[in-house]
Amino acid sequence: MISVPFDDRDGVIWLDGAFVPWRDARLHVLSHGLHYGGGIFEGIRVYDGRPFKPVEHFQRFHDSARELNFRIPFSAAELDGAMRETLRQQGIADGYVRPVAWRGSEQISVSGAGTSVHVAIAAWEWPHVFAGDAHSRGIRLHTSRWRRPSPATAPVQAKAASLYNICTLARDEAEAAGCDDALLLDFRGYLAEATGANLFLVIDGALHTPTADTFLNGITRQTVLSLAKDLGISAHERHIQPGELRRADEVFLTGTAYEVQPVRAADGHSFEIGSVTTMLSKAYTDLTRSGQGHGGPRRPG
Ligand SMILES: Cc1ncc(COP(=O)(O)O)c(C=O)c1O
Repeated sequence: MISVPFDDRDGVIWLDGAFVPWRDARLHVLSHGLHYGGGIFEGIRVYDGRPFKPVEHFQRFHDSARELNFRIPFSAAELDGAMRETLRQQGIADGYVRPVAWRGSEQISVSGAGTSVHVAIAAWEWPHVFAGDAHSRGIRLHTSRWRRPSPATAPVQAKAASLYNICTLARDEAEAAGCDDALLLDFRGYLAEATGANLFLVIDGALHTPTADTFLNGITRQTVLSLAKDLGISAHERHIQPGELRRADEVFLTGTAYEVQPVRAADGHSFEIGSVTTMLSKAYTDLTRSGQGHGGPRRPG
């Protein structure tokens, strides 16, 4: 489903310290970030005018840049201020914020030495990742032939644009197979995650989630694990074989954009949207709308 193209919208985008008209927020075709993948990004959800977990997201933004050997030329506080002013100018109460940073066009060479670093923040209204009632009915996953790489091969804890190429290949393959999203194994063959979200299985009432040693330890994943603890649901972080999916009664994904997303089938095997998923989904919804964990002012403007 393609909506209005993202380069042809009204409003403003914060670019390298100043606001520019939305359509003018461009980069040069000879940017290092485009050719060699020197780019990182974040995704932050806004609820009732309040960004959720902004401190954690801007910390990861800086950490991701460091993993790729570059430095963001703005502090977390400056980025937070720019995000809130973007939300105010765009008049967004419920939506999504996309900070992005990339290496500039000083040289076309694999070496990143001497490249400038550019940063932009854009925000838009965005209710759900999956269209229609998929969020409540559950989505269907397709296990991909593409795998998450080893930490010896790629900076797996960075939210690096280059790593999303694997996700695009897997997602396109899943959609071609009539599914909503892909499930990726890691380089060893253990269950890893979906293309933009972490994975949870419910087996005999307990949570089981893959150890985050080859993929992002998502901020939502950590939030859900802490909610589970508060609710007295036992949780196990461990290496999980793909065959264990057949033992799961419930399966769900977690992510900033996905929130707690029930899965109703994977590779033809069906799951219920049961009490554990429902309880955690409600707890997450309550938390994100409660004002806790947001930091900073309540509302733009
Ligand atoms: C590949 C991938 N895994 C996991 C996640 C979940 O991370 P978070 O909960 O921090 O959004 C995301 C989204 O950011 C992602 O893109």
